[in-house]
Amino acid sequence: MMRRFPDRAILLETIFPALGQTRAMANTSRVLWIGCRPYTTLYYDLIEQKGAECWSIDIDPEMQPFGRPGHHITGDMLKLEQLFPANYFDAVLCNGVLGYGVDRPADQLRGFEALAAVTKPDGWLLIGWNTDRISDPLKLALANRRFEHAPLPGVTARYVVEGCTHVYDTYRRL
Ligand SMILES: C[S@@+](CC[C@H](N)C(=O)[O-])C[C@H]1O[C@@H](n2cnc3c(N)ncnc32)[C@H](O)[C@@H]1O
Repeated sequence: MMRRFPDRAILLETIFPALGQTRAMANTSRVLWIGCRPYTTLYYDLIEQKGAECWSIDIDPEMQPFGRPGHHITGDMLKLEQLFPANYFDAVLCNGVLGYGVDRPADQLRGFEALAAVTKPDGWLLIGWNTDRISDPLKLALANRRFEHAPLPGVTARYVVEGCTHVYDTYRRL
């Protein structure tokens, strides 16, 4: 699977370890994973490895079994501020949702506002997206009002995955 999907390999072998070097996954931290599938069930333990508390959300009720047990919400990421308190998460990880449900630029802009509302100041935001599905979020300046594009330790703020259309961008909440 890792060889067939290089974006997964980068997520697990580069992005998660780099996040692990920040406060994002520390033992008092809360992390939100957005978009659940059978294969994402492996991720929650990795996120919680250092004691962080992982939550998950998906708009599709059928994805509930693949959420973080006990910490999953069926809901719309565009309405995150109605589902969680303000500044609740140290990190929000949103991979493959823009372009796979959150498709229109206006919805993506709303999405960044909702993400900002529940991310702590200085907290981390990961956006994984595909060049063949959406326009570049940086060029549309979707995040600018509330986040700065910022590198993780040892990883550039934009990581373009070779061999596929996937891009990872990391941001810090202003
Ligand atoms: C392509 S899958 C990506 C899943 C996973 N995050 C990953 O890394 O592969 C997209 C998921 O996002 C969910 N989704 C789409 N729009 C959403 C929204 N507005 N709020 C929450 N989840 C949404 C879909 O139901 C689907 O399970």
